[in-house]
Amino acid sequence: MSNGNQTDPAVLVIFGAAGDLTWRKLIPALYDLYLDRHLPGWFAVIGLDRREMSQQEFIDHLRDGVNQFARRGKPDDADWATFSKALVAFMNVDFTEADAYRQLAERLNKIDELWGTKATRIFYLATAPSLVEGITRQRGDATLAQDTARARVVVEKPFGHDLASAQSLNRKLTAAFDESQIYRIDHYLGKETVQNILAFRFANALFEPIWDRRYIDHVQITVAETVGVEHRGGYYDRAGALRDMVQNHLLQVLCLIAMEPIISFDADEIRTKKVDVLRAIRPIPPAEVHRLAVRGQYAGGWIRGEHVQSYRQEPGVSPESSTETFAALKLFVDNWRWQDVPFYLRTGKRLPAKVSEVFVEFRPVPHQAFPAAAVQDWRPNRMIIRIQPDEGIILRFQAKHPGPHMNLTAVDMRFDYEKAFRQGAPDAYETLLLDVMRGDATLFMRADQVEAAWGVLMPVLDVWAGAHPGDFPNYHSGTWGPEAAQVLIATDGRSWLLPTLEEDVERT
Ligand code: BG6
Repeated sequence: MSNGNQTDPAVLVIFGAAGDLTWRKLIPALYDLYLDRHLPGWFAVIGLDRREMSQQEFIDHLRDGVNQFARRGKPDDADWATFSKALVAFMNVDFTEADAYRQLAERLNKIDELWGTKATRIFYLATAPSLVEGITRQRGDATLAQDTARARVVVEKPFGHDLASAQSLNRKLTAAFDESQIYRIDHYLGKETVQNILAFRFANALFEPIWDRRYIDHVQITVAETVGVEHRGGYYDRAGALRDMVQNHLLQVLCLIAMEPIISFDADEIRTKKVDVLRAIRPIPPAEVHRLAVRGQYAGGWIRGEHVQSYRQEPGVSPESSTETFAALKLFVDNWRWQDVPFYLRTGKRLPAKVSEVFVEFRPVPHQAFPAAAVQDWRPNRMIIRIQPDEGIILRFQAKHPGPHMNLTAVDMRFDYEKAFRQGAPDAYETLLLDVMRGDATLFMRADQVEAAWGVLMPVLDVWAGAHPGDFPNYHSGTWGPEAAQVLIATDGRSWLLPTLEEDVERT
């Protein structure tokens, strides 16, 4: 969330620099920031990895990633030549060896000398979670982290495996770093449309007065993906949809929808208001898990005319896996604003569409004054916050259908990001990397947020871990998840709203 600050000289040290995240996300995002002139004048990247690679191989590998994934497309030679000057070193090191940190400290000191300044040092942990603790400890010992004003550490998810491991990781991180130095990434928070929820709610007088239990019937948050686990079967099979998506992305979106108005645009103020939501979520008693949570796993099936295999056949996945690739939950936020308003959350892989959106369904009008024939097509007001794709907001309301009779019909009013601003949104990683450089932690997770989010899910994780799902796989690829997910919401007399894909909007 750019606050207009100047960006000081910075060195980004990437642990796991030969990995997928660096190749696919970090360097393409940095390249786009460079094109948009957002990188500081003095900027360097040092890559560390256990994988052997020469400096030139490293640079070529990164260019390949930029070619494929940069928002602004394949770089021309001149741009790449200038940008790649920032990729100053690739160090082939063992993260568990103290010597790696001594070498790194030397490099960093040399850069400071050369630039004649004390650059911000950003340690980006793009490594397997199992390495994070070791790196943290070593770096603390190597005194690289002591200057709290300029040393920052970025930690990728998964942030722990459950509440106890997240607490333990937080303890280790805070032993080596001050909380103000720690940037826990949830890339959903870097998405423009997710940030826009704050602007939408708190910069407009129109919606906040009706944003509560008196006017809102229920909220649905859907994050659907068409992809399977791709090449991440090994990680995913130990995680599952609840840990991989709900603990972070979906609960963060829920927080933004449900939080109380902020007093100031301050990182801690915003984060505190979000933690308040997580703490207000009604605990799920173990005996109620079967009623309030649904899990699913995809079987083979068809997605857009292509046959795809079942989860259990994916590389790195156990053929008897009981890991969920779909999860749906019904939650309540126990406070004055939201008492008894259900929040239905669902996410899954191999669903029919890639779409992330929030539906807010309003209550019916208190008195229906129109004749029965006029309201045959009547539907409640509905707001759709489309996070991706076709980013925007749709407001559905009733209008008189043209003609001699008073017939009401539902119509959509649509705000479309791209049409309104005539420019594409930056990638989430561009926003987040720039924020770390500027020291703005608003869009990052504080320790208590992460732990509170785990706290919400622990009863479900525990019950699921203790009971083998008898019916897996229980949904075909290319469908909206298991039957039980329909039952979860149908028992309340409601249904999941099918995402409004672009073609539907065109039709209405
Ligand atoms: C990641 C998950 O955090 O988010 C992935 O680990 C998932 O499993 C991805 O595919 C989805 O992100 P996006 O930005 O494509 O919605």
